[in-house]
Amino acid sequence: MKLTVVNHPLVQHKLAILRDKHTGNKEFRELAEEVTLLLAYEAMRDLELDPVTIETPLTTMTAHMLSGKKLAVVAILRAGLVMVDGILKLVPAAKVGHIGLYRDPETLKPVEYYCKLPSDIAERRVFLLDPMLATAGSAVHALSILKRKGAQQIKLMSIIAAPEGIRRVQETHPDVEIVVAAVDSHLNDHGYIVPGLGDAGDRIYG
Ligand code: PRP
Repeated sequence: MKLTVVNHPLVQHKLAILRDKHTGNKEFRELAEEVTLLLAYEAMRDLELDPVTIETPLTTMTAHMLSGKKLAVVAILRAGLVMVDGILKLVPAAKVGHIGLYRDPETLKPVEYYCKLPSDIAERRVFLLDPMLATAGSAVHALSILKRKGAQQIKLMSIIAAPEGIRRVQETHPDVEIVVAAVDSHLNDHGYIVPGLGDAGDRIYG
């Protein structure tokens, strides 16, 4: 399925600061939110529009506004939370779901500890937020939950991804489009994205 790498100069600039180990928590949070907003601009390019008649100060015209089709954003906790605010600035009416997962440091497998999703998730277009797509264990697990709940149109948004993670999502959930700001070189022996930006959760929350 489609992979979109949003390598706009603004995104690259902000990503460079995010990656820098000298960037503090406050700036990291703000930049992650801004990068997400720019990713969302691209991820939402195919939202449906309806024609509407409006009156400008000069004349009547047919303009276009978002159709009533409902949206949901689902954050993979913890680090995905930082992406939610960026998206809600663009689509404030979207419902928000949360899936709590942490990666077992030994096995690198996701461990689920929380799941709360909008009750009508099956009727919504879903944007799944996971800032780091490393082994993709977390994203694949979250995608399976969303599909079990009936979600049909899902896009995965990540700030950075490893090629290994992208491959795994494409193999296990080929219908899911992936939107990322950068695809990095590889995963190291501990499952960290290289060059990466470290552990997003720790850099946001300490
Ligand atoms: C990190 C990151 C992703 C996940 C990526 O979360 O925020 O959710 O790991 O790894 P994967 O693709 O190999 O599954 P972590 O488990 O550190 O939890 P946190 O967000 O609470 O810090």
